[in-house]
Amino acid sequence: MSHTETQPAAVAGTEPVFSPALSAQEGIAAATDLFEETFGEAPDGVWYAPGRVNVIGEHTDYNGGLALPIALPHRAHLALRRREDRIIRLVSPQTRETVDVLDLDAIGPKGSTGEVRHWNAYVAGVAWALEQDGLGPLSGFDAALYSCVPLGGGLSSSAALECATAVALDDVCALGLAGPADAPDDAGRARLVKACIRAENEMAGAPTGGMDQSASMRCRAGHALELDCRDGGVTHVPFDLAAEDLTLLVIDTKAKHSLVDGQYGARRQACEDAAQILGVELLADITEDTLADALATLEASGRSDAAVLVARTRHVVTEIARTQRLVALLQDGTPLAGQKLAQAGALMNASHESLRVDYEVTCPELDVAVAAARAAGAYGARMTGGGFGGSAIALVDSSAVDAVARAVVDAYAEHGFAAPAFLNAAPSAPAGRLA
Ligand code: GLA
Repeated sequence: MSHTETQPAAVAGTEPVFSPALSAQEGIAAATDLFEETFGEAPDGVWYAPGRVNVIGEHTDYNGGLALPIALPHRAHLALRRREDRIIRLVSPQTRETVDVLDLDAIGPKGSTGEVRHWNAYVAGVAWALEQDGLGPLSGFDAALYSCVPLGGGLSSSAALECATAVALDDVCALGLAGPADAPDDAGRARLVKACIRAENEMAGAPTGGMDQSASMRCRAGHALELDCRDGGVTHVPFDLAAEDLTLLVIDTKAKHSLVDGQYGARRQACEDAAQILGVELLADITEDTLADALATLEASGRSDAAVLVARTRHVVTEIARTQRLVALLQDGTPLAGQKLAQAGALMNASHESLRVDYEVTCPELDVAVAAARAAGAYGARMTGGGFGGSAIALVDSSAVDAVARAVVDAYAEHGFAAPAFLNAAPSAPAGRLA
């Protein structure tokens, strides 16, 4: 998703603005009110799914590598009622004047006659993809969306919407796949994740790699999710930041970010080209031990963009190794403090540098946010998500959150950037039912 409205400029010395997460009760009330106001009856229930930030392991998912996301406390809420026919009616606070009406028998992938536009593609697309996966026929539904995942902030607002739809349809159509958020059926959820990815890739036309949907559906509170994107295997890694008096501060740069423009797809294509030249299925097949040989092969390939393929491959392989190292640190059973905390921060910093120099997906707003956060005392800071705008994260003492946020606001004012927004990324629960 991208946002095009003009943002107010940052002003030095002003209070940082934090985007709060809705409580469960607030989410239920907001989505239910919108549903009842629009459709004139009560929903069958309210379901939610969280946005995510990735701690490390960026642009590794479509290369079959490792990622380490957490679920945010910020969620998309969906009040939904099953219909007896095949009609889908959708409303959100932004579109409350017009209810969008779709027909499950007429919708289809982007570029087809059944193409579905805007955010409707993420919701209707999940129903379409579930049926494509043999889980139909489903029934139609009415749904009201109320999300507090910032749009266009690189925090997976679209994956949150897809996953909220998937758990809602799983429930009202009795697919029996998700299980409750506090006792999730991980294998069933992995199947729902596939439908969500398909909705995003085929219905919305964003060639993303699947980390976001896995995070929203399969994370655990107090943990990061080590996701092996080759086979979908997961490990829940202890990451109880509050217990260590630490905070993962999210800085939403408000800089434009879009996954459907060409840059993301171009990165993915370069990786596929490199893998083909190297004779491997995925770049994750290259390790640090074989990296030098692989880079030499790419250099000697005679391709006019050989230097680009070298840089992209170097990022992917070293990023997977950094992710392995951070996971090993977090799993060693000792507190995240002292030298260990410094090492974790250094891995995050190195990830950002690799994304800036080798993968070329940062932008001035991300680089300035990261530099300002580090200078103000963050243990580590990096961009998170696809890049080209979106959000950065900084690992900071909880007592330093305000000072770090202020430093970022001041740096943005100095550079004439739009005012950033901030979130507290407490590792939270996966998608589920609220009411
Ligand atoms: C976006 C995509 C993900 C992933 C990240 C980069 O968030 O949706 O699939 O590729 O970029 O790690």
